[in-house]
Amino acid sequence: MSFAGLSLLPRLRPDLRLRLRTHLRPGRRPSRHLITAGLLVLAVLPLPLLAAEVNLYSARSEELIKPLLDRFTQETGIKVNLVTGKEDALLQRLQSEGLNSPADLLITTDVGRLHRAKEAGVTQAVSSARLESAIPAAYRDPTGHWFGLTLRARPILYVAGKVKAEELSTYEDLADPKWKGRVCIRSSDNVYNQSLVASLIAADGAEATETWAKGLVANLARPPKGGDRDQILAAAAGQCDLAIANTYYLAGMLIAPEANQREAAAKMKVFWPNQAGRGVHVNVSGAALTQGAKNRAEAIQLLEYLSGDQGQTWYAETNGEYPVRPGVPVSATLAAWGEFKADGINLTRLGELNGEAVKLMDRAGWK
Ligand SMILES: [Fe+2]
Repeated sequence: MSFAGLSLLPRLRPDLRLRLRTHLRPGRRPSRHLITAGLLVLAVLPLPLLAAEVNLYSARSEELIKPLLDRFTQETGIKVNLVTGKEDALLQRLQSEGLNSPADLLITTDVGRLHRAKEAGVTQAVSSARLESAIPAAYRDPTGHWFGLTLRARPILYVAGKVKAEELSTYEDLADPKWKGRVCIRSSDNVYNQSLVASLIAADGAEATETWAKGLVANLARPPKGGDRDQILAAAAGQCDLAIANTYYLAGMLIAPEANQREAAAKMKVFWPNQAGRGVHVNVSGAALTQGAKNRAEAIQLLEYLSGDQGQTWYAETNGEYPVRPGVPVSATLAAWGEFKADGINLTRLGELNGEAVKLMDRAGWK
């Protein structure tokens, strides 16, 4: 007689595990009545106690990820317990919980934050051939501490009719006096801008980037305020001619329930800068296995699912983002903006340069 329930031992309550192990030590044949008793215990256990699960802290809102997690559960039988929160709050929570954190996996946005999580010691390395072949090296941590799952670009948006595409060229050109009073961009305390500036430091050096940042600040149409959507609204309202924003905001506004958002987005065109050089600045949303992950195998399985064909198509499209995997089709909205060359720098470098970028923006007077 084989003991079918043995493989479930690691997921049982510790007290039950102990009781069953005591009777099932190798070399000691368990008596028939003990086995029967064990089977009876297993039979009356409530199902969730036996179910494999993953505990996920997600900075992405529930509607952006829950349907995909449900599909994962359907396919694998692994339950996902989802906790959503703000990016910085989740990182702080992981830090204060330390190894006792119930979280197995953290999903957050921007490499600046993924790198911060790694530096804070709340992540651990994962080695997975599936993840390594699915996700290009530039979009994952070289030591396996985080993996990009969706890609976002931060191009220049311009008001159709006020600017011609031929007048635009690079991020560097935005410091040219011809754009005086015509640029809208959010504040320097935003991680998206910090990563953008880090990419300029990596390409042009710190000194040239500081000069550039001063020129950009001199060209701003108004002191930085609001988020990316607000820059698009301001441009459409005639306050500026150029706006810097992540593409998914524009995609979201095009199908927003509010008419003013749709109308503003319809006035904007996407310009892909630096196409003759390093390419447009891109960033990721991604995931990291937590330092104390108790459901390690299940968490890695979820990561692999999110990097797979199904995960990539749905996950990227739902938020108007690009798949990290080459060859996965993009949504019709994104396809209409055309293809672009992306900056090929390993995003980890942007995380490393984040502190320098913040100081530089401060010195340049970027509010
Ligand atoms: Fe965002």
